[in-house]
Amino acid sequence: MLTQERILDALKNVKEPFLNKSIVEIDGVKEIKIKEGLVSVKIAISKTGTAEQMKLQGEVVNAVKQAGADSVGLRFEQFTEEELSKLGIEAPKEVKSLLDEGVSTTFIAVTSGKGGVGKSTVSVNLATSLARLGKKVGIIDADIYGFSVPDMMGIEEKPKVKGERIYPVNRFGVQVISMGFFVHDNSPIIWRGPMLGKMLNNFFTQVEWDDLDYLILDLPPGTGDVALDVHTMLPSSKEIIVTTPHPTAAFVAARAGVMAIKTDHEILGVVENMAYFKSQLTGEKEFVFGQGGGERLAKELQTEILAQIPLGQPEIDEKDFAPSIYATEHPIGQLYMKMAQKVINKIEG
Ligand SMILES: Nc1ncnc2c1ncn2[C@@H]1O[C@H](COP(=O)(O)OP(=O)(O)O)[C@@H](O)[C@H]1O
Ligand SMILES: [Mg+2]
Repeated sequence: MLTQERILDALKNVKEPFLNKSIVEIDGVKEIKIKEGLVSVKIAISKTGTAEQMKLQGEVVNAVKQAGADSVGLRFEQFTEEELSKLGIEAPKEVKSLLDEGVSTTFIAVTSGKGGVGKSTVSVNLATSLARLGKKVGIIDADIYGFSVPDMMGIEEKPKVKGERIYPVNRFGVQVISMGFFVHDNSPIIWRGPMLGKMLNNFFTQVEWDDLDYLILDLPPGTGDVALDVHTMLPSSKEIIVTTPHPTAAFVAARAGVMAIKTDHEILGVVENMAYFKSQLTGEKEFVFGQGGGERLAKELQTEILAQIPLGQPEIDEKDFAPSIYATEHPIGQLYMKMAQKVINKIEG
């Protein structure tokens, strides 16, 4: 005969996955109903909706069937905070997300009209410079089609993953997350719209960011899905628009700027990258990629030029390899430090 006692007895050896104690002992079995061969059970656990719950489900069903049930109905609920504290444990902390209210992180999206203008270079150097100035900084490589931040910063390790939480990689004091960390053997990936949004959302909600003053987002070029997602997810994000000095490049970049304005994102300013080449022999500036694009764009968007970065490569440090990061002493590194200070003044000043 199926009785409540018999079912309880059968469940004695089933353990609550988070506390690793018998679900019967900790009063996790909240209800047993028997109707002929059908047994319905309600069980409380520490955290519902988890992989642990799925596993427990199988164990409970097996145990109840072994006790003689033909079929098993199973519901889960979460222990109340009170029950948990009686069991001597704290309620599982609400996982905090960067999107929660009350989070004081300033988001800065770095955009451009087209690829190859130096958006990622500007993103990684701005992030590094802000960190050098003592700020707590993170960067999301949201250029999901063309992620490059890990390579540019010389990151070889992968983020640690514990349960459902992802821990960003720390490099030069910057917390880094990139799609590149989750892709095998560097093969390009094609994401469809909904997947993309989810990915970005995961970067905000599943990543265990340390405190952040600034989070830099290296967006894909143009005004596509990801840019739109950022606009919706981060309504108060600020933007920096990168262009080359060529007037047509600025024209293309203006579209990204117009989108920022439309969505009420404050434009912090324009970075004119590859603005000129300075001859080491004569010190003369040559405007290899044209001139005036940055100025024109800034005027059009009613903002300022944050920096004009010339052509030039970082010195390669074999011991601390990071092919796109300019050292503080490098003339271009200095320009990035000034730009970072300008950004801080604009936001905090
Ligand atoms: N100021 C610069 N001087 C020289 N090379 C640069 C400069 N800025 C960017 N680059 C190089 O140009 C290429 C494109 O830059 P990247 O930052 O990847 O552009 P985007 O992210 O806009 O596609 C990279 O190889 C980068 O190293
Ligand atoms: Mg890039």
